[in-house]
Amino acid sequence: SIAAHLKDNANQIYIGTALSPSHFSDAQYQSIAAAEFNSLTPENEMKWDAVEPSQGNYNYGQADQLVQFAQQNGMKIRGHTLVWHSQVPGWVNGLSGDTLHQVMIDHITNEVTRYKGSIYAWDVVNEMFNEDGSYRQSIWYNNFQTQFVADAFTAAAAADPGAKLYINDYNIESINGKSTGLLNLVTQLKSQGVPIHGVGFQAHLAVGQIPSDLAANLQRFTALGLEVAITELDIKQNGQSQDAQAQAYTQVINACTSTSGCVGVTIWGFTDKYSWISSDNACPWDGNYQAKPAVSAIEQALK
Ligand code: G3I
Repeated sequence: SIAAHLKDNANQIYIGTALSPSHFSDAQYQSIAAAEFNSLTPENEMKWDAVEPSQGNYNYGQADQLVQFAQQNGMKIRGHTLVWHSQVPGWVNGLSGDTLHQVMIDHITNEVTRYKGSIYAWDVVNEMFNEDGSYRQSIWYNNFQTQFVADAFTAAAAADPGAKLYINDYNIESINGKSTGLLNLVTQLKSQGVPIHGVGFQAHLAVGQIPSDLAANLQRFTALGLEVAITELDIKQNGQSQDAQAQAYTQVINACTSTSGCVGVTIWGFTDKYSWISSDNACPWDGNYQAKPAVSAIEQALK
């Protein structure tokens, strides 16, 4: 274990982890999460299929457990995620047009209102871009083109005017077609007065592939007056050493701390034991809760 906990750093950024209460029976999981981090993101429990499995039948139990855990341990909460092409409940997939639009607004209003005042930031729209910067063909885009984005942010802002409202995506960490498509969209949304406050860079990365222009790219977005955050960081070992992995974690933390307006870094699960990346040891703690060199590297980088 390490001398100081990650959250006890003098830096102004928060350090978070994705969590799931399905692992709360594992005492070490809970104790490391509470000791090391001052923010959490529900890994699946606030997604639409989890909270409204059939229309009007709400199931907020697991999400509530995470909110309670955060409050007991002085952690911020990143709400994840309101409008996404994935993990949409089956009953929604059969809808279209005005009916679909209304259930989207109702879902946002219901969930954001339930947690009003408790959520630091919501990922309002998740993963709406293709790799070339064009729009993903989703139930949302196919029905409403990009209008669903403004409508979703407006509904979320009405339900909790105090929450920071984010658009979130992956493979946007470098200056590329996808991140430029996103930059163009958020520029347009801001000029239209849409209540958007932040951009989340998921950062599912691999050793040897940390973009050297990450900080420069973040700064393209903060220059628009938006805050930015690293929202789902994990770094596959990719055949390299744990020390190389630690250095890669350092690079990402440094890109955030060197960017005024980068408010925090969230790791997408802190232990390999439960990571969605099952076989490439992408987390700072291994499957037996032993800290890898990445943990002290993150601690140093946060100083
Ligand atoms: O809960 C059911 C369980 O009842 C069932 O028996 C089991 C059988 O497969 O599935 C369980 O659901 C799984 C769920 O995780 C909870 O464990 C789903 O199959 C599985 O697909 C789901 O995966 C999640 C994935 O999002 C879904 O897209 C991962 O845990 C989660 O880490 C991942 O997170 C996403 C972010 O939300 C968005 N960015 C990418 C990131 C990684 O894919």
